Amino acid sequence: MRTITLINGDGIGPEISKSVVEIIAASGLEINWDLQTAGADVADKEGTPLPERVLESVKRNKIALKAPVTTPIGKGFRSVNVQLRKSLDLYANLRPCKNLPNVKTRFDNVDIVVVRENTEDLYAGIERQIDEDSAESIKIITRNASERICRFAFDYAVKNGRKEVCCVTKANIMKLSDGLFLDTYRNVANDYPQIKQREILVDNLCMQLVQNPTQFDVLVLPNLYGDIVSDLCAGLIGGLGVAQGANIGKEYAVFEPVHGSAPDIKGQNKANPTALLLSAIEMLRYIDEKGYAQKIENALFKTLTDGIFTADLGGSASTTEFTKAVIERL
Ligand code: NAI
Repeated sequence: MRTITLINGDGIGPEISKSVVEIIAASGLEINWDLQTAGADVADKEGTPLPERVLESVKRNKIALKAPVTTPIGKGFRSVNVQLRKSLDLYANLRPCKNLPNVKTRFDNVDIVVVRENTEDLYAGIERQIDEDSAESIKIITRNASERICRFAFDYAVKNGRKEVCCVTKANIMKLSDGLFLDTYRNVANDYPQIKQREILVDNLCMQLVQNPTQFDVLVLPNLYGDIVSDLCAGLIGGLGVAQGANIGKEYAVFEPVHGSAPDIKGQNKANPTALLLSAIEMLRYIDEKGYAQKIENALFKTLTDGIFTADLGGSASTTEFTKAVIERL
């Protein structure tokens, strides 16, 4: 039986993790979940929100499914998510955004894959207070990290039959940092003549995405733009409750939804488990359990087609009712 690390997170994390674990079990696939807690409660007990045991578990099992973990704004500990991605060198953040059956959105046929660099940029966490009234954050862009993320995007495009990889920057203003990312993209693109190249500035991209999103295929972006644009793309397909993601490195992969811990609906049995479930389905494909992945995806799509929705999609099903509905359709 395969052992997989489960980081069940906080906020709505435990509720949606329970749902996904139940659905996978009901599909007939046996997984030995190595449950690892992380976050603020853990920091109170163990002195750090991301204890070594969590990293060791992912290193041992190579694969993890992760629910969201809260990061306090402005003060407190450094983001568990950023730390995890850095410590395990999960350099590629892959966020496919595709319309789901029967989920009404402004546009049909959205099928965008956001490939976000995951280890540097303004997320390197290098900040300092200059004086009481000023602070600075340093934006780090390296050729090495830019090259491997661009290569990841092009390799993904080739493997998945995509036609175009569009590079998103603000290289007209940040000529050195974003300029380096763009220059690296151009060099990597030369190795993939079968894939169309395109370059766009991030502000224009945002406008185009809300007016005509179907023109985009694969997007590759530095960390901060990738973070923001992937939430925008989540909005195009029904919101954060349905937006899946994965953090992939050479040795390890951590599958997690785009959304956060949603403290506003915590403990209310309202959260939509779809984003975590879709992330888990991609995880099953990644570990070559394609049959089970398809079976679960079919049951999820049938649930949506039958008009069973949680509140974020305008329905009235609770997390547990939605979970039960998916299980009944397996
Ligand atoms: P959020 O994604 O938690 O919530 C934004 C809005 O979307 C809220 O109204 C929430 O109720 C709704 N929402 C999110 N997921 C949902 C779901 N599955 N079903 C139904 N509604 C859902 O973003 P927010 O409020 O900015 O962040 C909350 C906390 O989560 C912060 O501490 C943040 O740092 C953390 N966070 C963690 C992430 C992770 O663990 N990977 C990613 C993003 C944020």
